[in-house]
Amino acid sequence: MAKAKTAYVCSECGGEHSKWQGQCAECGVWNSLSEIVLEVATKTVAGGARRGGYAGASDAAKVTRLASIADVADERSATGIGELDRVLGGGLVAGSVVLIGGDPGIGKSTLLLQMLGAIGGRLRSLYVTGEESLAQVAARGRRLGINLDGLEALAETSIERILGEAATSKPEVLIIDSIQTIWTELLTAAPGSVSQVRESAARLVRFAKESGTSVFLVGHVTKEGGIAGPRVLEHMVDAVLYFEGESGSRLRILRAFKNRFGAVNELGVFAMSGKGLKEVPNPSAIFLSAHSQPTPGSAVMVTREGTRPLLVEVQALVDGSALPNPRRVTLGLEQNRLAMLLAVLHRHGGAAVHDQDVFVNVVGGIRVQETAADLPVLLAVLSSFRDRALPDKLVAFGEVGLSGEIRPVPNAEERLREAATHGFRHAIVPKANAPKKSRMGDLEIIGVERLGDALAATAEI
Ligand code: TYD
Ligand code: MG
Repeated sequence: MAKAKTAYVCSECGGEHSKWQGQCAECGVWNSLSEIVLEVATKTVAGGARRGGYAGASDAAKVTRLASIADVADERSATGIGELDRVLGGGLVAGSVVLIGGDPGIGKSTLLLQMLGAIGGRLRSLYVTGEESLAQVAARGRRLGINLDGLEALAETSIERILGEAATSKPEVLIIDSIQTIWTELLTAAPGSVSQVRESAARLVRFAKESGTSVFLVGHVTKEGGIAGPRVLEHMVDAVLYFEGESGSRLRILRAFKNRFGAVNELGVFAMSGKGLKEVPNPSAIFLSAHSQPTPGSAVMVTREGTRPLLVEVQALVDGSALPNPRRVTLGLEQNRLAMLLAVLHRHGGAAVHDQDVFVNVVGGIRVQETAADLPVLLAVLSSFRDRALPDKLVAFGEVGLSGEIRPVPNAEERLREAATHGFRHAIVPKANAPKKSRMGDLEIIGVERLGDALAATAEI
């Protein structure tokens, strides 16, 4: 057998290098390269193990008019779990590969088992477990109250045997729990290593495309926050969903990070109960903490993650720092954005926090990525800094620009309606977003153009 061709792949960005080096030339991270085998001895496997991606079922590909190809992406089967369907973009797509990532113990196996239960007999399914015994899976299924008739499971970690089994039982839904335990006989690397995970996932992707099976891969998140270390997995699959939650909280959030068949940033919300995951179809107000009184350092924003508005509380703590470089810590927000906002607050809001530690947290373990959070974050920071609570029943949203201007954000009317529905009385919003009428039911809408106006408005309510 000829010597296997190898390459070195960065576990942070997936960049490929022909030689080992201490630093990834693409993303600059140190010590992140590991060896992978590029070309596996092809004669061992019928059909050949081409590297990466999938070239299609047959080698004799033909040029085809796109218009003559039937629309498969629209053929979706609902899983029966509404929140999951929402995040998937409307249900299962035949031949798609979905990677579900999350910390160990967050509920990935539970979610997928419940999905199979909800699908019931509508689609043939196969649950491959590489982590638990069949007895454990069955016991969990019973505890979840799932009808186990017609559900097939396989305790196996060899990709050759899994694909062999799948070729005979022809499942329409195949679950691999988890991809880190799967290995191929063609490589000598240890299971869980970058090359094993990558090659096994590539084989599963090819299987999905050729057979039309919907494949779900479970991936544990590593300490660094990537799935299986290699970002390569994220490039190979059609959709990447992250299952997240705060430790100690029962709330679980399923978020689409990449989706070839639907919107990204779509959220599904679940609560973990004694009988598995329960959907939370109207999550709007669950990300508010339960104060009876307004407290300093707390502001409520209306964010729009995916396709629905959510009321979310932002908390800030500003405290005198003993450090030469005071800390800026964010949970659920981007840290650099906070640093920028604090500079704007100093310059255009007249509050100097350069000698203060600033901590900002989004309640409920949710992550807010949109710039509409800027204004509420600054209001919360200033409220904590001055130790003065914001007015009761106040919401805010708006992007803050470097020159202190408050810039409009999309879907303002929908956000305002959500706030009005939940009994809020005052909304501080970008002027360009404020409707002509300054009231919406009991909600008074205050349009502001500059950060100074927004701060003045909170004092006048
Ligand atoms: P699991 O699905 O095994 O997590 P993962 O596959 O992501 O590692 O979830 C395990 C956790 O969920 C475990 O800590 C117990 C909890 N759990 C419940 O609270 N209720 C239940 O009905 C089930 C099945 C699990
Ligand atoms: Mg599991």
